[in-house]
Amino acid sequence: MKVLEVDLGERSYPIYIGAGILGRDDLIAQHIKGISTVTVSNTTVAPLYLKNIHALISAFKNTDIILPDGEQYKTPETLDLIYTQMLEARCDRKTTLLALGGGVVGDVSGFAAASYQRGINFIQIPTTLLAMVDSSVGGKTGVNHPLGKNMIGAFHQPQCVIIDTETLNTLDDRQLSAGIAEIIKYGYINDLAFIDWLDENMDKLLKRDPEALAYAIHRSCKHKADIVAADEKEAGQRALLNLGHTFGHAIETGMGYGNWLHGEAISAGMVMAAELSQKHGWVSESEVAGIRTLLKKANLPVEPPAEISAEKFSKLMSIDKKVQDGVLHLVLMKSLGESIISSDFDKTALQQVLARA
Ligand code: NAD
Ligand code: GLY
Repeated sequence: MKVLEVDLGERSYPIYIGAGILGRDDLIAQHIKGISTVTVSNTTVAPLYLKNIHALISAFKNTDIILPDGEQYKTPETLDLIYTQMLEARCDRKTTLLALGGGVVGDVSGFAAASYQRGINFIQIPTTLLAMVDSSVGGKTGVNHPLGKNMIGAFHQPQCVIIDTETLNTLDDRQLSAGIAEIIKYGYINDLAFIDWLDENMDKLLKRDPEALAYAIHRSCKHKADIVAADEKEAGQRALLNLGHTFGHAIETGMGYGNWLHGEAISAGMVMAAELSQKHGWVSESEVAGIRTLLKKANLPVEPPAEISAEKFSKLMSIDKKVQDGVLHLVLMKSLGESIISSDFDKTALQQVLARA
């Protein structure tokens, strides 16, 4: 097992990464402070892994809350369902919430933990590749609004993150690729050597080679932990983690939540960010072609959906957390492997990228 630390002073926490570590009761128990737990999962993940969690927390009074599965349920209504079941079970301020599942379960139940009785402890147990390398680390929690992705939420850091890479064995191929999109993202933010590694090892990742997956997860979590430690509340550089996201969130909202997977939308969104960067002369045509090739190798989409017009894209992108004081900020590529946050991009060039879509 490998352990990484998210260094946030008194709120620092470990990320445990290993194969089969859900079998280790010493990991989880030390992070549960009270006598009661609530385990939130969904109808797909609970039948697979809930019994493993029960075996670890038999010393605590536990309540299970099983949510419907899907991005379309990352809503205030689902949040309310969690609050109701926690109140019915008499959960109190010492209760620890365990989030068992992908990014949807982690985000919505993390927000429940952030807000229930003004905040309780929680533990992230991610079971998708995307949640392992991104959403379970860093404390962003929340739900979607029909008008915009992740618009309602809070920063609330977990007590620990437990990544059992063996849970990936039951994940379907499309979801695995969606997770690889977020892994590739770290390379284009600031780690070109990682891009070379991913290019060489993509087949191994797609075939779920345990060593390759463990390496990619560890390297991704290290990037995320470092950025979060430097800028927890996204005052500056944490926004780099949103490479491709302003375009991608517009795709997810515009196509209806759940139709494009988050990672798929980020993949097409990264290409759009690269195309806009190329229009500024920051990256070359062949570099953008290289980005497309790598994403395609991971079985990811590189074109945005034809259904979203340039006008609709613009409207959707105007409701984004990177709009500040009415000004849109985008994460662009100043050069390959060096992303920047910019509000000073060429607005005509942006329209051209959206129109080409
Ligand atoms: P998801 O949670 O919908 O999971 C994908 C699917 O895989 C679901 O059907 C789920 O039930 C299933 N599943 C989960 N684990 C499984 C397993 N081990 N075996 C079989 N099936 C399994 O999607 P996701 O890609 O994990 O997360 C996407 C969400 O994460 C989006 O809402 C996105 O906005 C959010 N996100 C949040 C952050 C953050 O910092 N908080 C970062 C990135 C993404
Ligand atoms: N996934 C973006 C962030 O955590 O900041």
